Amino acid sequence: MARSMLERLTTRARFGALQGARVAWYGAHSMAMRRQVRQVEKSLDLPPRRFEPPKGPVPDQRRMLADVAALLARDLSNVERGLYPMPHDEPGGLAGLVKRSRMFLDDVPEVARRRLTGAHQEVFDKDNPTGRPRYYMQNFHFQTDGWLSEHSADLYDTQVEVLFLGSAAAMRRQALVPMAEFLAKRDQRRVAYADIACGNGGFLRSVKHAFPRLPTVGFDLSDAYCESARARTRSCSMVDYAVANAEQLPIAEAHFDLVTNIYLFHELPPKVRPVVAAELARIIKPGGRLIFLDSLQTGDVPDYDGLLELFPRLFHEPYYTSYVTTDLRALFGEVGFEVESERTAVFSKRIVFRRA
Ligand SMILES: C[S@@+](CC[C@H](N)C(=O)[O-])C[C@H]1O[C@@H](n2cnc3c(N)ncnc32)[C@H](O)[C@@H]1O
Repeated sequence: MARSMLERLTTRARFGALQGARVAWYGAHSMAMRRQVRQVEKSLDLPPRRFEPPKGPVPDQRRMLADVAALLARDLSNVERGLYPMPHDEPGGLAGLVKRSRMFLDDVPEVARRRLTGAHQEVFDKDNPTGRPRYYMQNFHFQTDGWLSEHSADLYDTQVEVLFLGSAAAMRRQALVPMAEFLAKRDQRRVAYADIACGNGGFLRSVKHAFPRLPTVGFDLSDAYCESARARTRSCSMVDYAVANAEQLPIAEAHFDLVTNIYLFHELPPKVRPVVAAELARIIKPGGRLIFLDSLQTGDVPDYDGLLELFPRLFHEPYYTSYVTTDLRALFGEVGFEVESERTAVFSKRIVFRRA
């Protein structure tokens, strides 16, 4: 009894120290970034911009931090319930963290310049030798190299964590909960699982940490991000990656029992969303699950509605405004998915779909 109480306290102390330090670390980067952006703004000497205030409410920093704290409390409770293990340390330890911090801060002036001058087509190549879709060849988030370089893949996590006050990994971990529930009644080794648009593998690193025997494949349209994901999960077994377009995956019909899809749909043009939804329906077995995680939508948390208006203006997100009003139940319902559960997590929302 005394031992289990001690273990619990130790878990809480470790979790609190690690997650508290993350929020402080990325919060400090956010402040440093804002200062750098102001300097770039001054140096560019641009004509004054007309700023249209959002119609909906925007939560202040205190409210957002309280919501992040509530999410972390839920995250800890998931760990204590044994749904997934204690989040692992940062890749590369302290040295890796410092290296990524330096890279991030060195890159801020370039991102700021793009944002202030509206430069979001730097990676567009009209000859398009790789045949990637036109909508993909943009500097999403005004990021350097778009999705197309190792440098971008190395920077991505820091950029996203700074944006979400250190809560991005915790938001993604909410997708592990329905995974744990699905796998609880099954032999992991016999479950076919894929993460579509796996990015640089941050989520798959958590998946392999939680479910080491689950055969896993990550698909993404970026060679550089797939390579980065491969490197980050090198020490894990039964994990592979393939460069592929989510509109047309190189997979047989009804192949997967379980699929995750995280932060892809808000980056797809309205015409492409039904195509990808249909492709996900095609590759999942009847009775299988799609665990979908993406941005909050308008009305999910009314106090955040104004933030959802501001987000695509501050970060190049050309399809976001149409995404936040998309009826996801209808979009996925039309291709054969039923909603099993839905839950918000600060800036994100998780929906579990069952393939009918
Ligand atoms: C916002 S990131 C999310 C990455 C990852 N799921 C995460 O949680 O960090 C979007 C990812 O979608 C990928 N992507 C965008 N359009 C795609 C498409 N049509 N097919 C496959 N991947 C795509 C990008 O390369 C990028 O890695």
